[in-house]
Amino acid sequence: MFNKQTVRDLEVGNKIILERVDYNVPFAVDGEISDDYRIIASLPTIEYLVGKGAKVILCAHLGRPEGEVDPKFSLEPVFVRLQALLKEKNIPCSFVDAVVGEKVQAAVNDLEFGQVLLLQNLRFEAGEEKNSKEFAEDLVRDTGAEIFVQDGFGVCHRKSATTEAVTHILPAYAGFLVEKEVTGLLEIVGEPKEPFIAILGGAKVSDKVPILKKIINKADKIFIGGAMANAFLKFNGYEIGLSK
Ligand code: 3PG
Repeated sequence: MFNKQTVRDLEVGNKIILERVDYNVPFAVDGEISDDYRIIASLPTIEYLVGKGAKVILCAHLGRPEGEVDPKFSLEPVFVRLQALLKEKNIPCSFVDAVVGEKVQAAVNDLEFGQVLLLQNLRFEAGEEKNSKEFAEDLVRDTGAEIFVQDGFGVCHRKSATTEAVTHILPAYAGFLVEKEVTGLLEIVGEPKEPFIAILGGAKVSDKVPILKKIINKADKIFIGGAMANAFLKFNGYEIGLSK
């Protein structure tokens, strides 16, 4: 059972909420987002908080710019997609090309309750990946956030300022996506229904090894696809080449 506080336990009212999401989405060669699943998956929590009257400040990362501003990793294309999706729900959404500082303060001042603001890529600031307390404090100060919501399920396993340090500054709650994914995983490692077939994919093999270890003696079958399959094929002596 999921045993953390969720947004359902929250008296939202007219509050400023800093919400971590995972918008680390893939891009096609033409520069278009090739899979917007993560953006879509973030909508229920945003809609819920906005519906309760909050100012929702979203923060996210894209790629690994390692503390440097790099236009290649701007969250602006993500914002364009998010804005279009929220427009269908009549939720106004804006973007600020900064993570902390005066630009952020001004954008939050301009934002009304019941609206959404997306900050620029958190990893343009070195403090994010360093799990810096000072950076988390700057983020809280400049956004004026009173509550922190974690809904970036795909990034929760990283120890960074917006997954760890910030939770020592603000009261923290889980969003619906985190609740759903963790509940599903607990079911799998606890009492899975039979037959238990696991399908794993993605590019980052090392991140999946702990999960594989948990399920290897429980699953009836495990299918591995995506870029991750290459590691297994290579280990079994296959020649791996990239297709064009
Ligand atoms: C992911 O896409 O796996 C998460 O967003 C974490 O990204 P990272 O591997 O760059 O930390």
